[in-house]
Parts: sequence; C-alpha cells; structure tokens
Amino acid sequence: MAAIHRTPAWAISEALVTPETTFLNRRAILQAWGLGALALATSARLSKPVHAAPLPAGNPALYPAKQNTAYKLDRSLTPEEINAKYNNFYEFGGDKEIWTEAQNLITNPWDIEIGGMVEKPFIIAFAELEAKIPLEERLYRHRCVEAWSMTIPWTGFPLAKLVELAKPTASAKFIRFETFYDPSMASGQNGFLYTWPYVEGVTIAEAANELAFMVTGAYGKPLLNQFGAPLRLALPWKYGFKSIKSIRKITFTDERPVSFWEGLASNEYGFWANVNPDVAHPRWSQAQERILHTGETVPTQIFNGYGEQVAALYAGIQGEELYR
Ligand code: MTE
Repeated sequence: MAAIHRTPAWAISEALVTPETTFLNRRAILQAWGLGALALATSARLSKPVHAAPLPAGNPALYPAKQNTAYKLDRSLTPEEINAKYNNFYEFGGDKEIWTEAQNLITNPWDIEIGGMVEKPFIIAFAELEAKIPLEERLYRHRCVEAWSMTIPWTGFPLAKLVELAKPTASAKFIRFETFYDPSMASGQNGFLYTWPYVEGVTIAEAANELAFMVTGAYGKPLLNQFGAPLRLALPWKYGFKSIKSIRKITFTDERPVSFWEGLASNEYGFWANVNPDVAHPRWSQAQERILHTGETVPTQIFNGYGEQVAALYAGIQGEELYR
C-alpha cells in the first residue's frame, strides 16, 4: 500500500530518523579525524553550564532493594557506565550523550500530581511515594524502537500498586503520564520541533499487568538524572519510547492519550508499540536488534520475549496497529 508520508523529515529527531549504524559510523569518522572530542566539546560549550550538583530526590538508604528473582534474563547486564552514557532524553537534546546536560535536571523537591477520574485527586511528594510502596529490583530487557537493546537492573514497584493508591473510578480506561515542563532547566524544551511536555499512555489493563513497573532506581541506587529521575516507567514488552521519564503528572481518563512521538509522526509511532520482529518500522526492519554492550546482533522477540505475561492483553483487539 502506498502510504503518504505526512511528516516532513525535519520534524523528526535525527536519532529516531537515522539508523544506529549511520550514527556510530559518523562518530567513528569524527573520531578518526580527531574531531570527536572537538565536536563534543563544542556541543558542551554551546549548552547551558551545569548547575552545582542538586540534591537527588531518591533516598539512598532504600537501595539496593531485594531482587525479585521471578524476572530472569537470557543475556548479561548492560554495564552501568555504558547505559549511563547512551540515552534518549529529548528534553536535554537529540543525541545519545545528553547525560551531561541532564545534570541540570532538578529533582528535589519533586511532586507528582495524581488526578482525573479518581475518587480524590492528590499531590504526593516523590520522597513520600518512594517510602510508601516497598521497592524491589527486577532485571528487565529494554528494546528501543531504533533497534538497539540493553538489559537493566531497575528498582521500583509495580504500576498496579500506584493504581491502587490512586483509586480510579470505574469510568477510567487509560492512564496518561506527563513529564515536567521547564525550558529554563531543559534546553531541549526550547526547540520548536516538538510538542512539550513528553506524554505517554497505557490502558488500565496494561497498567494492571505484573510487568508494568514504576522505576525509582537502577544499578542498586536511586535513578541517575539521565535515566529519568526521580520516577519513570518501564514497560519491557513495548518499544522504549513508551517508558516515559521524569513523571510529574498521572491522569486517569476515558480518552486514549496521544503520546509525544505519536503526535509527531503517527504513521511511525503508534499508541500500542508492542515489540514485534515481523512489523517493520516504515524506515527500517525490526527483525533484529543490536545488544548495545556486546555489539552482537540477535533476532528480536515478539513482545520482547514477554509474550507469556502480556499476549492475552491484546487477544481481543482488532483493527488496531498493535506493533508500531
Ligand atoms: N521520556 C522522556 N521524558 N523524554 C524522552 O526523550 N525517550 C524515550 C524513553 N522515555 C524519552 C523518554 C525513549 S525513545 C527511550 S528508548 C527511552 O526513554 C530511553 O531510556 P534510557 O535512556 O534509559 O535507555
């Protein structure tokens, strides 16, 4: 079918447009010319100065949390130093080295607003939430729509526990998550290409699934800024863009939320975004993925290998693009 590509090429971030190999090649070329460091130094100079280290929101005394051994991996963990320097966090820029710029994120104090179709809307301080629900560690796979993958020891609690706390009414069908909006802190939010703040959504049924996880820490510590401190989502059976970082607002609603990337390019990034090797992204294959820390290329697994836990969620849904 000849689909009309409505999104102008300039309206999509380079990272999501450019296949990873091109990215790495470009870096390799810059480095071979001795320009890698220069390019990085220049981009660092152009960006805002990093604030004096702000107090992190997470309470280190709560980490490391006990591991829930029900969640096993088929590969080794991605070392923290690799994961912490290769991130997508467009609020701080469109390349993978945003970790320096992300140090500008101030996470303390951090309040989370919970509202919409709930018995009683409320605001809860992150510190209170982190202390209220018992934390556990889970080893999860993480598959980006760009066809690279990592394996991460997240710390957090099931999203279902937060739903319990929020007490949604029977009319709520979806949960809408929203990130902070502060262009003075997050240089990327000054750009005109994107509609800020970053938004994501899940159905209430997806939120009740055991795998849906609210993340407060990684690698046995409170979350680093670049991972989406102080609170992010991990939905390991979906492409990574669904796992929204630095959540400020959680709204229960009967309307399906339009997420950040879906709003920008709905022909490329859908609401469901379940991992599937057989459904290609319009501009690249999803059949394989590159394990970031080993460089190995391996076959992509349906639902990123979590079909046993989640396939039933989608059994009755028809006429929808579940895998994009
Ligand atoms: N959340 C916010 N607020 N902003 C973002 O740019 N990027 C998404 C997701 N959550 C993003 C976000 C994408 S595209 C991916 S792949 C993952 O975060 C990356 O998470 P990581 O940097 O911990 O690997």
